[in-house]
Amino acid sequence: MKAPDASLYLHDLEPSIAEFRTAVFEGLSKPRKTLPCKYFYDAEGSRLFERICEQPEYYPTRTEFQILETYAGEIARLIGPHASLVEFGSGAGIKIRLLLEALEQPRAYLPVDISREHMLAAAADLARQFPDLCIAPVCADYTQPFALPTLHDLEPDTQVGFFPGSTIGNFTPMEARVFLGRTHTLLGNGAMMLVGVDLRKDGAVLTAAYNDAAGITAAFNRNLLRRINDVLQGTFDLTGFAHKALWNPELGRMEMHLVSQRVQSVYIEGRRFDFEDGETIHTENSYKYTIPQFQQLARESGYSPVAVWTDTRQLFSVHALRAI
Ligand code: AVI
Repeated sequence: MKAPDASLYLHDLEPSIAEFRTAVFEGLSKPRKTLPCKYFYDAEGSRLFERICEQPEYYPTRTEFQILETYAGEIARLIGPHASLVEFGSGAGIKIRLLLEALEQPRAYLPVDISREHMLAAAADLARQFPDLCIAPVCADYTQPFALPTLHDLEPDTQVGFFPGSTIGNFTPMEARVFLGRTHTLLGNGAMMLVGVDLRKDGAVLTAAYNDAAGITAAFNRNLLRRINDVLQGTFDLTGFAHKALWNPELGRMEMHLVSQRVQSVYIEGRRFDFEDGETIHTENSYKYTIPQFQQLARESGYSPVAVWTDTRQLFSVHALRAI
């Protein structure tokens, strides 16, 4: 499908409403209700996430940006010339700019994202800034197997996967291994993978990051219920669910929940779901790793750790891994 901008070709594998419905029905039928966090990112959810990234308490985005800014030259030298970059979950495309500017004659950029309009707008912006770069957006759920489009006559010297933002932390460690294993298959032996990973730290810093004073994370969490209302004719009363984010030290993860404020029933496409007062819907996990923990996980997924960069406060890390 041709995207609005003349230099972009969209490879469209967008997940269907049927998949969303199945995930919602399954999650809300469990004894402990859950909803998959990947469905946060419709157009409104993506906008809210960008606002989270600007909140003073939410340090990961700006810290990762500083690390990439500081070490872009070093990273580019490690990657070498004529690379093709595949970004998993492309968002606003701000971080990739840093890499594209530092790299020597990058061949192609393939953003992969579930949120089509958001990705296309960011890709169109990039196309204006890098007119010689082949940009091929792929609308797909990268948590599932998918294929990349073939870009004829653009054989890169190095395939590079880019997975910033500590989105890897939104997988369980087992899911993270499966995901990294799939990127290995997709990118091939010898490829480089750059992964942003939030580091383990004091629980108070983490809890504040997911409970910003402006209430943007709360709105982001509740937006999932609004999406169910809009897409699946749900009857969620958004004020009937409170945002809760807590640090789980045993499992090394931040958890987000939506807590029912009373006994209530909700209908989704005519199906009834009952909630106790205080019952939660678990909407997200955000695992935090030490550097050795993440390097071990990478080894178990077929990668060899090559380099790691951090900020001076050791809040966040960017790992370079080689597919072996
Ligand atoms: C996208 N992901 C890495 C964010 C995180 O920190 O886990 C999503 C998020 N959830 C609440 N705030 C930000």
